[in-house]
Amino acid sequence: MERKIRARLKYQMALPVFFLIICFIVSVSYAGEEGRLYVVGMGPAGPDLTAPRALAVIEKADVILCSPGMPKKFERFGKSIDPKKVAFNPWEGIYGKEAKKLKKTNYKKWLQQVENQTKKVQDFVLQQIKAGKTVVMMDGGDPCVYGPSLHRLLNGFDDKYFEVIPGMSAFNAASAALKRTMTGENTKFVMLTAPSSLFGDFYEKGDEILRDISKYETTMVFYMALSSIDKLVEKFKKYYPPKLPMAVVYYAGYSEKEQVLRSTLGTILDDLKKVDETWIGLLIIGECAK
Ligand SMILES: C[S@@+](CC[C@H](N)C(=O)[O-])C[C@H]1O[C@@H](n2cnc3c(N)ncnc32)[C@H](O)[C@@H]1O
Repeated sequence: MERKIRARLKYQMALPVFFLIICFIVSVSYAGEEGRLYVVGMGPAGPDLTAPRALAVIEKADVILCSPGMPKKFERFGKSIDPKKVAFNPWEGIYGKEAKKLKKTNYKKWLQQVENQTKKVQDFVLQQIKAGKTVVMMDGGDPCVYGPSLHRLLNGFDDKYFEVIPGMSAFNAASAALKRTMTGENTKFVMLTAPSSLFGDFYEKGDEILRDISKYETTMVFYMALSSIDKLVEKFKKYYPPKLPMAVVYYAGYSEKEQVLRSTLGTILDDLKKVDETWIGLLIIGECAK
């Protein structure tokens, strides 16, 4: 009888320990089920130029953050993004007509807006990751080349929470459209840049850098250059001859819309008047633009 009581007591004492062990195992395995953020490079045009790895991640995503135009772009290529997965437009207040106007008229206020939106997005993403969700943030082209997700939204966000899936940059599609090597025999380097990187957002910086670059045979690739092409041409005319080859590839990678315009420093302003597009175009300068 005494042995039976002792055994029951032992059993009763073991129960809470057993319970604690189970709780520990459950909490450890739950903690291991954290989600992940994927910053996905969508390529320069439609999903036919998006890497299969990127498409697979999009397929398994629980939550998608993308610009409002992205689902429409998918549709045009006979694919779809489940609208129920799209959380919100992460670029609200950062890009778009209104934001652009504000950036010009009240830069400080725009910066505050960017900061608020960045915080909103990062808090949301972290919450989703903690809940075990797979989150996809879509960037046009390659996220590491003037991709706004890494540049703006994920500024300061801990690397351990996300992966970047590379995409084809507009640069690759535009080079293919030109049918030229970007790294010709005499070319010393290929420079991927933007007017804002060389001269500041409002062309407020000096242009000595261009004088230095003009000493070398270079392939220069300008992103986001068309809306201020007149100011850019003015800078170039100080250091380069009028015959400097320049080309613009519009809608690179779009099978139905791609257009190549070959020109020179001396004639480009007149030539660009023929095309009514100031955003989706890459300016390429150097021998390869001939
Ligand atoms: C914010 S940057 C994004 C660049 C992008 N991450 C990439 O790797 O191509 C936007 C600029 O990229 C260029 N761009 C993007 N897609 C393009 C395309 N399909 N054809 C030509 N230029 C393009 C344009 O110069 C545009 O103003």
